[in-house]
Amino acid sequence: MEKKVSVIGAGHVGELTAFNIASRDLADVTLLDIIEDMPIGKGLDMREAGPVGKYDSKIFGTNSYEDTADSDIVVITAGKPRKPGMSRDELVEANFKIIKPVTEEVVKHSPNAMLLYVTNPLDAMVYTGLKVSQFPKNKVFGMAGILDTTRFRTFLAMEIGVSVESLQALVLGGHGDTMVPIPRYATVSGIPVSHFISKERLDEIIQRTRKGGGEIVSYLKSGSAYYAPALAVTEMVESIIKDKKKVLPCAAYLEGEYGINGIYFGVPIKLGANGVEEIIEIDLTDEEKKAIKNSEEAVRNVVNLLDL
Ligand code: LAC
Repeated sequence: MEKKVSVIGAGHVGELTAFNIASRDLADVTLLDIIEDMPIGKGLDMREAGPVGKYDSKIFGTNSYEDTADSDIVVITAGKPRKPGMSRDELVEANFKIIKPVTEEVVKHSPNAMLLYVTNPLDAMVYTGLKVSQFPKNKVFGMAGILDTTRFRTFLAMEIGVSVESLQALVLGGHGDTMVPIPRYATVSGIPVSHFISKERLDEIIQRTRKGGGEIVSYLKSGSAYYAPALAVTEMVESIIKDKKKVLPCAAYLEGEYGINGIYFGVPIKLGANGVEEIIEIDLTDEEKKAIKNSEEAVRNVVNLLDL
């Protein structure tokens, strides 16, 4: 492979992300965790699956940051997940203490990498990554919007009874209970979803989307969702490595866009070989703007807790 991706944290999200990237032959993959030997076992298992999985990616696990050297992309999943009943924001103190030193180690060995954050509370953790790395903002971003949007698309497709592939939708804002699904921009192959479902059902689906992560946590009891998050990260990695310039909702650093300055926030971006190549500003109604403001405040409240 020409490209190297390192994944920090070999929990469910990290290991599945590593596997998805390797098994699609997108890049060679280094999977790192601090738990002794565990990532080495997972990496070896994934390498040994290559012949039957039909991929040549040189994937391996490690406990040493030296093995992540000169990565093109580093995906950071390290951190604690929620327990049932917890909000993502309650993780801020514990995960800041993890993300700060992880970022320091990562940038020491890969000074030219792009940093893709997954750890919650997402918008605050990726902000930590920008400040600690001092990398340019186009190279530091977070995964959340694709996850929230894929949930919204799934629930809409289930309700309408059509293929999920026909559903296009958009969720903006912070990755928390104040996220802002924009139903006006949700379509079934270009046909507004309002053609297919009532406003009441749509409102219920929006609420379910907002609570989608918590719903999974409540069933798992320990740990949070990982299949959808890992595939969402993989879509971002693929868009960068293949320079596809997909338009995807991601956490990007805003400097005036959407009237927001100096925080990370979920917005549609064009993601390509140069990372965040463009932030796309769409027209919003007054009601949508109000919801965005509410979500901005929620993100700021968490960012203000960071010891930076
Ligand atoms: C979720 C958590 C992981 O949305 O943020 O599933």
